[in-house]
Amino acid sequence: MILKKPFTVWLTGLSGAGKTTLAAGVQQLLGQEGIRAAVLDGDIVRKKLFPELGFTKKDRELNVKRIAHMARLINDNGIPAIVSAISPYRSGRASARAVTREMLEIFVECPPEICEKRDVKGLYRKARAGRIDNFTWVSDPYEEPDRPDLIVRTHKEAADRCAERILELLTTRGYIK
Ligand code: ADX
Repeated sequence: MILKKPFTVWLTGLSGAGKTTLAAGVQQLLGQEGIRAAVLDGDIVRKKLFPELGFTKKDRELNVKRIAHMARLINDNGIPAIVSAISPYRSGRASARAVTREMLEIFVECPPEICEKRDVKGLYRKARAGRIDNFTWVSDPYEEPDRPDLIVRTHKEAADRCAERILELLTTRGYIK
């Protein structure tokens, strides 16, 4: 396969929905096709680059906007970017789209109850115990995308299949061939 035009795959969804796994899956599938892509994971980017940011609406919007600018820079260098960030607000994702331009918004859908049950990082439990403020879904909103480019349901489809569907979308939209 060849890269026709750099793009940003933007994975949005709750903590524990499977965004990080999916980002790695898409990166791997693209790699197998000879296309290298950069992953920007909200969790990592926050810790390394923006440790001063918390989880208020203002801080999340700033985090999302900065990640969008990074993705754009990566795209401007000819390289596809895969972003995984909760990015819970429609407004933030809309501004990310405006910044990145070639963005595909993928809603990584998984019922909150299942994310909470998985509780991979034990954060839902902490949030329920009142030890984390503004935790998405527990004490902070998640605004589902109105018109995402694609919805993947990680509780119904295997991660591999979800990643394949994203590659199919990239193909139909003419980003890869
Ligand atoms: S975003 O809302 O600004 O897009 P981002 O994806 O970068 O969030 O970071 C979310 C990660 O931070 C979660 O996966 C979780 O590990 C951690 N985290 C810590 N506190 C919170 C919180 N209050 N709400 C959501 N995630 C949190």
